[in-house]
Amino acid sequence: LSELPVVEKDVIVIGAGIAGLFTAIRASENNSVLMITKKSLLDSNTRYAQGGIAAVISDEDSPAYHRQDTLIAGAGLCSDEAVDVLVHEGPKGVRSLIKMGTQFDLENGEFALTKEGAHSQRRILHANGDATGFEIVRALSETAVANDQIEVWDDHFVIDLVTQDGVCCGAIVQKPGGQRLFVKGKAVILSSGGAGQLYRYTTNPEVATGDGIAMAYRAGAYIQDVEFIQFHPTSLCYPGAPRFLISEAVRGEGAYLRNIRGERFMERYHEQLELAPRDVVARAIVSEMEETKSTFVYIDITHESPEMVKHRFPTIYEYCLRYGLDLTSDWIPVAPAMHYMMGGVKTDLNGETNIKRLFACGEVSSTGVHGANRLASNSLSEAIVFGRRIIKRIEELSENTIIPVIDKDTKRSSTSIQAVVERRLKLQKIMVRYAGLRRDAKGLIKGLEELKRQLPIYQSVLTEREEFEFANLLTCALLTTEAALSREESRGAHYREDFPARDDEMWRKHTVLHRLYGLT
Ligand code: SIN
Repeated sequence: LSELPVVEKDVIVIGAGIAGLFTAIRASENNSVLMITKKSLLDSNTRYAQGGIAAVISDEDSPAYHRQDTLIAGAGLCSDEAVDVLVHEGPKGVRSLIKMGTQFDLENGEFALTKEGAHSQRRILHANGDATGFEIVRALSETAVANDQIEVWDDHFVIDLVTQDGVCCGAIVQKPGGQRLFVKGKAVILSSGGAGQLYRYTTNPEVATGDGIAMAYRAGAYIQDVEFIQFHPTSLCYPGAPRFLISEAVRGEGAYLRNIRGERFMERYHEQLELAPRDVVARAIVSEMEETKSTFVYIDITHESPEMVKHRFPTIYEYCLRYGLDLTSDWIPVAPAMHYMMGGVKTDLNGETNIKRLFACGEVSSTGVHGANRLASNSLSEAIVFGRRIIKRIEELSENTIIPVIDKDTKRSSTSIQAVVERRLKLQKIMVRYAGLRRDAKGLIKGLEELKRQLPIYQSVLTEREEFEFANLLTCALLTTEAALSREESRGAHYREDFPARDDEMWRKHTVLHRLYGLT
């Protein structure tokens, strides 16, 4: 495959959410950058982030409070060092975002700060009410596109990383017409997000297929804590409507949860009521749904002033109206949906993986910040804090002198796209059924058996984006299910009905998976 055309840049960034845009812009100060996205700069999970970005801004807040809230939500599994980095460097990261053009909401000349579940203080910055992610993507993509040092490739699919002797030197990329290239750099930053598409019900867009986790795994990276899948408690659950996120900030501003009998129920589950940690609220909702034989509960903010609701949540308000639901006067039907992967590609405090020159940033990574359950709005902060560190580390790197031996097949396959779409649906159903909010050994073993039947995809030659995505999702599904089966306790977002207690003696440790299946 030495005949593949080669494109060389200093830094290769794979993915275009906040992590990719932010690191590309920072890297461009001293480097040429190639940014590759499989769709466009506007297609990422970041774009849909509503609540905001957590950082210690208010005088009433302190890094110690932010640290404590993060550690409590993380249920004993956060890395103390990584959390310290997050809470101390968060404000600097926010200032960098502002320099890149992001405009956060102000109130009386100060940053307007909101609260979300399990936060003891108001520390969530937001933009245009509930459109924080969209504003960040707008600002950063405008900055990136205007920058001569950054070349952006839309609609290009990264098939695999290229490594030699434990060092990453680039990636194989497929162009829209099917032609392949080898892109070479002194550093590769994976910022390709999580695998929200593992589950049938998800707040994530179609592009969240775990590509970065799967390709890093194939390249020999350590994959950490992928059993911890965060289900957001409140996604819209209405016939014909996608599982649109109803931000936790709605509860932060006073909304109640009610079962279909109209009863507020959270007092039966947690002293923090509607603002309890997400896993607690999500499981409470499922219990109420079962108890009342319903597929949803309600979120109710009708007791707050309609002006405040419309001003704070314009996106959610407008979205619900499309389906005839008025957030200011109706109770909105909601149910939990897959939202975020706490685990991912294991990194050190500089975002570097066990493969030299391969970095991971954002949801694709596992820095140890989130532990077993991410505190709301810590993910955007994590991306910018560790993104800054990654670029500092890259500045210390010398040229990459490796000339890799690449061995990839370029033949065409004959799989029909329709067949792959059906397989993805089947995989999502398996994950909901056996590796969802509540798990047990019997179901996880059954899930693994069913997933493994799909493994022959790895023996075929893949050419279409849908096929690669399916293979990547399958890899992530296997890893999540294996990790969930191995963790014989309940902690944070991982709940085992056959091991309902937390077991600190045996299980206060990370799950690290490495070369579990011979997937290449
Ligand atoms: C939300 O707005 O509820 C989502 C925020 C997050 O997941 O951090």
